[in-house]
Amino acid sequence: MMIVRWRILPAALLLVLVSQVAVSYAQIPGRERTRINDGWRFMLYPGEGDSLVYDERPVVGYRNDNIVADTRATESGRGQSSSRALKAWILPTANEFIKDPAKHHRRPAGVSPGVNFPLVHTQFDDSRWDLVNLPHDWAITKEFYKEANAIVGGGMGRLPIQGVAWYRRKLAVSATDQGKSIYLDIDGAMSYAMVWLNGVLVGGWPYGYNSFRLDLTPYIQYGGDNQLAIRIDNPNHAARWYPGAGLYRNVWLTKVSPVHIGQWGTFVRTKEVSAQSAVVDLVVELENSSAAAQAEVATDLYLVNMLTGKPGGKVASFERMSATVPAGKKGKASASIVLMNPKLWGPRPTAIQSMYVAVSQVYVGGKLVDTYETKFGIRSLEFHPTNGLLVNGTPVRMQGVNQHHDLGALGGAFNVRAAERQLELLAELGCNAIRLAHNPPAPELLDLTDRMGFLVIDEVFDCWEKGKTPLDFHLIFPDWYEADTRSFIRRDRNHPSVIAWSFGNEVGEQYTADSGAIVAKRLYDIVKDEDPTRPATASMNYAKPTMPFPAVMDIISLNYQGEGIRDAPAYAHLKGIRTTPLYPAFHDAFSQKLIFSSESASALSTRGTYVFPVTPGISAPVSDSTGGNPVAQFVSAYELYTAAFGASPDKVFASQDKHLYVAGEFVWSGWDYIGEPTPYYGARSSYCGIIDLAGFKKDRFWLYQSRWRPDLPVAHILPHWNWPDRTGKVTPVHVFSSGDEAELFLNGRSLGRKKKGLYEYRFRWDSVMYTPGDLKVQTYKDGKSWASEVIRTTGVATGLKLEADRKTIAADGDDLSFITVRVVDKEGRVVPDAAPSIRFSVAGAGELVATDNGNPADLVSFASPERRAFGGLALAIVRAKKGFKGTITLQATSNGLNAGTINIQAK
Ligand code: GAL
Repeated sequence: MMIVRWRILPAALLLVLVSQVAVSYAQIPGRERTRINDGWRFMLYPGEGDSLVYDERPVVGYRNDNIVADTRATESGRGQSSSRALKAWILPTANEFIKDPAKHHRRPAGVSPGVNFPLVHTQFDDSRWDLVNLPHDWAITKEFYKEANAIVGGGMGRLPIQGVAWYRRKLAVSATDQGKSIYLDIDGAMSYAMVWLNGVLVGGWPYGYNSFRLDLTPYIQYGGDNQLAIRIDNPNHAARWYPGAGLYRNVWLTKVSPVHIGQWGTFVRTKEVSAQSAVVDLVVELENSSAAAQAEVATDLYLVNMLTGKPGGKVASFERMSATVPAGKKGKASASIVLMNPKLWGPRPTAIQSMYVAVSQVYVGGKLVDTYETKFGIRSLEFHPTNGLLVNGTPVRMQGVNQHHDLGALGGAFNVRAAERQLELLAELGCNAIRLAHNPPAPELLDLTDRMGFLVIDEVFDCWEKGKTPLDFHLIFPDWYEADTRSFIRRDRNHPSVIAWSFGNEVGEQYTADSGAIVAKRLYDIVKDEDPTRPATASMNYAKPTMPFPAVMDIISLNYQGEGIRDAPAYAHLKGIRTTPLYPAFHDAFSQKLIFSSESASALSTRGTYVFPVTPGISAPVSDSTGGNPVAQFVSAYELYTAAFGASPDKVFASQDKHLYVAGEFVWSGWDYIGEPTPYYGARSSYCGIIDLAGFKKDRFWLYQSRWRPDLPVAHILPHWNWPDRTGKVTPVHVFSSGDEAELFLNGRSLGRKKKGLYEYRFRWDSVMYTPGDLKVQTYKDGKSWASEVIRTTGVATGLKLEADRKTIAADGDDLSFITVRVVDKEGRVVPDAAPSIRFSVAGAGELVATDNGNPADLVSFASPERRAFGGLALAIVRAKKGFKGTITLQATSNGLNAGTINIQAK
């Protein structure tokens, strides 16, 4: 590799003032990047799959997936090489991300595998296969497995994710493209993708969450159609949650001149950041697939227009860089400027999210050959052991949540609007930080977090050498850990929202003393080699301060241990990891390191369902006899019940408030997700979200909002007040409020005024006798009237009311409208226990994509146009057909109820 270091000129010579006059920016060609999401043929391979295996896998019979999440990771299998395995052809794809050339894989000589396999051939007739558009998740529209001992159980979401599938598509490449480098860029394929072009095996990538590039150039036939064939092999028993299945993210075709900026080939680092100035360091890596060249790189800096995402006013230019790039090799060049009065990026809700884009243009022999944009933000981060996180010098408490990758009823198929909606609701909650549990996201998610101002912990693995399920990443860890870690960081390291790298979650190596810490250090070193600017960490639910494992980490990421695991009286009978609150012990042992909860709570509930009697304590593990309803598979929404190792929000808050050096928490979890339905594995989706799978707020929403947005007047009463069977029975009433005092009235009669005590976060009246009517709470803050709420026993349901999150959407085939159906009484009040069956139909320019109601135990397919309301609510997701403008009409009908209708405009 040829490295050309660009001299960093003395700062004084390079001072570049932010220009006041915006210079308009025009896109200059040199690179073509096309999304190729349409027109794919798809087929699930019947039976046991074809013969083209990546590697032989251990055979797994029926397996109960109802395993406590904090069970020690012990699986240790290895892929078994056999004469059938194609792994040797796939491994060279990793070379780009393996630092030591001696460890690079060689493509085997000889005939490409699959030559005798018809599905990879150009002539193969796929016209009877399904026609699909990407992003595509083949399992999400299917029926749930409903039986006990199902082949795919609740843990992975009861959907048919398992098996081999093929995607085929033609690529037209013109004769004028001859001489260019042509790449296939796949943002994520679940999983074990292997790609053939014109019958030749090009390469692939096993880990389904990482993005990867394949160089198609040697196999292209110019001046006509080329045949792509992609084989996906998605194993069952490979995850602790729903992984999705197939080409579930965008796929791109990139055409560039032989001398070009490589994949994720730029790195911008900012330092000495203040309101007055910032140093911006840029490194550019060039690739060359032709004869040795002398390249020049000119880079202009623009402010990003945050509304359009496009370059706005030009603010500065880097000095021209030059690099010699030998044939078939790489060349690096770097430059640095000092930017005056930089516009800083900062987290929501107070800071503004400003971003810049460096537009680099590559010239060879005076001719422009490539243009490459690098978006970045300027901000400083400090991770302080007692003051917590400081962004641009300002302390920011991490009010975070964990998020899985799925988008509820849309499954793994990535959709920008669906992800944006998830973030919007989290923003309303007062959340400012997201941990991406436990895998790299779709790239567009980080564009959203940049734009919306969320701090992100980007995480790559849930396991290393020791697996958690028989066929998870541990099988390929030895071959792929370096490539997966490096590619993950290279892709994401210019995003200002990413503040830390997590290279593991609750891994089995926590338990194995020095040998586990050695694996951790190996990964840590890779992370730091790719990005020395951010802290690297792995989350710990077992490792103790005296063990070698946490010493590897830059910051201390604790799962549940900070608050204490199974340490309250209600948890005394449980087996498993048990700790006292360990914040102090970690803080003492690592007095120079920031400490925070990367997972807290794991509180469980089903929206709008309440189970009696209610625990008198502030936190209790759910069981069939307390907090749980095993018949309906509900967990009580009094928001006091948790997973075996969890803690209620109240308990977490108290613990955090007692240890003020703790930098914040990431609640497990923000939204419900598919799979891992602890404690009822007959269900399909989780119970731990603050928001349910459909996007409806659980009661807990207002508990977190009261804490995270203390200035917002919030008063929320639970439970609902429709209890025909409970007249005269004790029915506790709890109130979540940002006030400090509250008085509850039942039918006008005061049930007492209460003050929040120290380390108390809810008001509770635990001996209320139910009688129908009005429940009203009046809250106070500092003695002044603050917020109030009234709930009322409703009448019977009479109709359906529809409301869309957005009434105008783009007719691009991607944009969505999320429509909430409310089952209401004659006064228009939501009937909280109504569960009528609703039938949806769409007319006009759109189509129904999916329906849901947020009930984890509802096993009606997400694709069904018929859905029972749950807790008085249901959701319909509607999309405009690509290119069809006009009105989309959604109608919802139900026997005996007034129908509801809504019009959406597709523009
Ligand atoms: C944690 C684990 C998460 C999830 C959670 C469920 O131990 O890290 O991935 O399983 O428990 O409550």
